[in-house]
Amino acid sequence: MTDRLVVLISGRGSNLQAIQDACARGQIPGRIVGVISNRPEAAGLEIARRAGLPTQVVDHRLFSSREDFEIALSEAIAKWSGDWIVLAGFMRAFTPSFVDRHRGRLVNIHPSLLPAFTGLHTHRRALQAGVCWHGATVHFVTAELDGGPIIAQAAVPVAPEDDEATLAGKVLAAEHRLYPQALAWLCRGQLVLDGESLRWREFPPMRERCLLATHSEDSACAPR
Ligand code: GRF
Repeated sequence: MTDRLVVLISGRGSNLQAIQDACARGQIPGRIVGVISNRPEAAGLEIARRAGLPTQVVDHRLFSSREDFEIALSEAIAKWSGDWIVLAGFMRAFTPSFVDRHRGRLVNIHPSLLPAFTGLHTHRRALQAGVCWHGATVHFVTAELDGGPIIAQAAVPVAPEDDEATLAGKVLAAEHRLYPQALAWLCRGQLVLDGESLRWREFPPMRERCLLATHSEDSACAPR
């Protein structure tokens, strides 16, 4: 039996596409059983439909409270009996009670090297701060925003000529490699969330957990 992934999106869906491709080629020993968007206009819904994946919209604007929205979200997730709730550009913060209910099964990708640059506009803020390295982080979701234990990170060097758009593109390309990799470990049971930290049953190669991406997507390399 392969693990069942429920993917939550709000927009473009490029990570959803990368995860679907990784499932299809067998990199992730799991399958996407449903895609939920909180926005009816999310482009990612079309990606899901084209891949033949079941979709559901749970529009947060139709609920009078965050709690009611999350009850509907939990019902949609339960309907598909997901093993993993995979946040892929899902732009709503959760209440502690939602996080508790799904604790240890809820993962996210964030476009920065956490704990730096939690929240929004990470690429702009990284450029303003003048960092040399930027990147992306896959982490378990806990009640603290972008604060859960880190599963894997991809680092991208910031070039002098980078602007917000070019840096975002480089980070996104790294995300598309990082997230499938991390989900593969989760589906294989290589790690679990144990209290406030990770417990590895089988530690992955350093070059996969700490991905070092060069400027060119296809010449990405790892420390040797
Ligand atoms: C990604 O940069 C991800 O890190 C962030 O939202 C963006 C989603 O992009 N959480 P996409 O919808 O997967 O293309």
